[in-house]
Amino acid sequence: MDIKVKTDKTGIQTDKIVSLRGQAAAIKKELMTAERPFTDWAPLPGSYDREELENILDTAAEIKKKCSLLIVIGIGGSYLGARAVLSALDREYPGCPEVMFAGFNISAAYHSKVLKKIKENETCICVISKSGGTTESLTAFSILKEALTEKYGKAEAGRRIYAITGQKGILRDEADENGYVTFPVPENIGGRYSVLSPVGLLPLAAAGADVKALMEGAAEMMNDPGWSSTALDYAIVRRLMDENNKKVEIFEWFEPAMEYFSEWLKQLFGESEGKDGRGIFPASLSFTKDLHSIGQFLQEGSPVFFETMLRIEKSAADITVPESAGELLGGKSMNDINRCVMTGVAAAHEKGGVPFVTIDIPEIDERHVGGLIWFFEMSCAISATMLGVDPFNQPGVENYKTETKEEILKI
Ligand code: PA5
Repeated sequence: MDIKVKTDKTGIQTDKIVSLRGQAAAIKKELMTAERPFTDWAPLPGSYDREELENILDTAAEIKKKCSLLIVIGIGGSYLGARAVLSALDREYPGCPEVMFAGFNISAAYHSKVLKKIKENETCICVISKSGGTTESLTAFSILKEALTEKYGKAEAGRRIYAITGQKGILRDEADENGYVTFPVPENIGGRYSVLSPVGLLPLAAAGADVKALMEGAAEMMNDPGWSSTALDYAIVRRLMDENNKKVEIFEWFEPAMEYFSEWLKQLFGESEGKDGRGIFPASLSFTKDLHSIGQFLQEGSPVFFETMLRIEKSAADITVPESAGELLGGKSMNDINRCVMTGVAAAHEKGGVPFVTIDIPEIDERHVGGLIWFFEMSCAISATMLGVDPFNQPGVENYKTETKEEILKI
């Protein structure tokens, strides 16, 4: 695949990387061959159910006909993947509903705005929760479903609700009782690895994204032998950075549309790796905005981090700066100037001894985003396994969920 990853500015010797390739390759094999639980996401770009995808596309077409607003309810892995891809693609899709996300907070102020939008638009709801019992999702779903019922009556509201959930739980029971259209969250895939399953594919298809191209991009990445070893190397480099006391990884972008992709990356790495008192803390920065604030720290602050710069070569648009801007900028393309920033940051940080990885992506479309998703999922799972933690559980998150329910019972 035509994405390039370079690790030569990390200060890590190639022979060290090479010495760990055997271990990383063995982990990858384990992940690809389902020798471990919760690994069905790994071969998914090749093994996914084609018939289910056709059903997803038919359902998406139905949603497009029915509504101008699709509210996607979910939190964590149940919404972030779809949100990341949609924001990254950053397009308008004529004839497709506007997508609004809900249930990723418990803010009455936020959900009041969503309720107002329901009044103003023909609306459908897509509720996503693997457990079916997450407080945030359940709260938002109850509130928004009531508004939908008030607007359309119970039967029609039921025809406008689409549920993506696990085999058991409150949401599964409700969906069965009311005849909602449902899709499964695969049992053997955890939330943060589920974007290429119905969890991400239905909302993305309904929004107008080309989900077949997304899957093709992921498959291209998965099948590219060169790339598979790059995923290994990136995973290895992360571990060696950790050993060098680089306890923070900063994902950096030069396109604001990638903000939610960073959020997805932070969840993927943070929830997979941060356990047993270990792991690299994932952070993100948006350039050039943050170069004028945190940029100072990057250049000269405590050396506790390494950077992963994600550089998109071709922006979705270009604008020529008017000649009136003067000799330095006038007549030049914004994209060219942005590329100078990318090179300038790399040069300054190299001189300052800041270690960094670069990932150069020709452009952001479904194919490249699909490829990036698979690349990061694979390198994250390898990296966490090399650290000695289970990439697929989240005991800390479960503790928070239980404690919160205990507190709610008291009110
Ligand atoms: O990655 C994960 O497993 C979590 O982030 C979950 O997706 C999140 O907690 C939501 O859980 P559920 O889908 O059960 O509502």
